[in-house]
Amino acid sequence: MNTPIAKTPDRLRIVSGLAPVHAASFAEDVRAGLCASRKRLPSKYFYDALGSALFDAITLLPEYYLTRAETEILREWGWEMVRSIGNPVDFVELGSGSAVKTRILIEEALRAQRRLRYSPIDISEEALRASAVGLVESYPPLEVVAYAGDYFSILQTNAIARPGRVLAMFMGSNIGNYEPRDGKELLMRVAAALKPGDGLLLGADLKKDPAVLHAAYSDPTGVTAAFNLNVLARINRELGGHFDLSGFAHIAEYDENAGCVRSYLEAKRAVSVPIDALDTVVRFASGERVHTESSYKYSEEDIARLAGETGYEFIRSWNDAQGQFSVNLMQRR
Ligand code: AVJ
Repeated sequence: MNTPIAKTPDRLRIVSGLAPVHAASFAEDVRAGLCASRKRLPSKYFYDALGSALFDAITLLPEYYLTRAETEILREWGWEMVRSIGNPVDFVELGSGSAVKTRILIEEALRAQRRLRYSPIDISEEALRASAVGLVESYPPLEVVAYAGDYFSILQTNAIARPGRVLAMFMGSNIGNYEPRDGKELLMRVAAALKPGDGLLLGADLKKDPAVLHAAYSDPTGVTAAFNLNVLARINRELGGHFDLSGFAHIAEYDENAGCVRSYLEAKRAVSVPIDALDTVVRFASGERVHTESSYKYSEEDIARLAGETGYEFIRSWNDAQGQFSVNLMQRR
């Protein structure tokens, strides 16, 4: 006979409204970013339904090696990662995680312990529900307590505090989107929410040949260009913008000194764009750029230094066979 298992609703809780979301709205950020002398738009606004689908398409591009390399590392070494700080552990993940990658670590943990609590934190309640429902259905010993909100505020409430060992994760090179000061601040907030001995797994893309990096962020298929341009399309859809997307070009440049791929949208000619909901008209000079994303790359030394500066001991890192990507374990001091 089948063993009775707790009904899935009993193993899935989504906590929202925990922390006041004092984050600026899309409209406020678009106004501030496009009225600035150096125009910019926060990269978090890429990810509406269409943008998320375009990102999923990016992960299938031959040039975009990051997701495949990280998946390879987790398949090969996930068993060692989940055993590295002792079992049992509870998982806390910043971002609700792609189904595939999170599943690898959950399955490895369930080989080392009988039960597991997984607590993803994500700004999108929809994304949380979509990933959590499938997980509790797949894994009867799994309990999901998900938190909807921005990382900083949720971490500050101490909601993720647990009596036992916690293995936190921040995967997929998402740290790369943070300017170094902000990335440090985030890792320090995570450290403050952890206990001494708890772990943090950090997925970080490695510094490498500029040509390889450039191709990864400027693919010949144009999928990345569409992903970038979608933020203007989103302004059209949600804020009554009047961008003609054919007047803007996707640009990705690797700054080797900073170790950063910066993405821009560049006006091909001078243009004035009304945005109805903002009651404003944004003027672009020919060749003027909007900075839309930074994707920082790290060396192993960079990561060890970052760990030391934010309250952790750097334990070790695992790479894919080609040495393109790294998953790093640090332990809260
Ligand atoms: C999802 C933030 C890791 O910076 O590599 C992919 C997003 N941007 N192609 C990255 C992205 C352009 C991606 N991250």
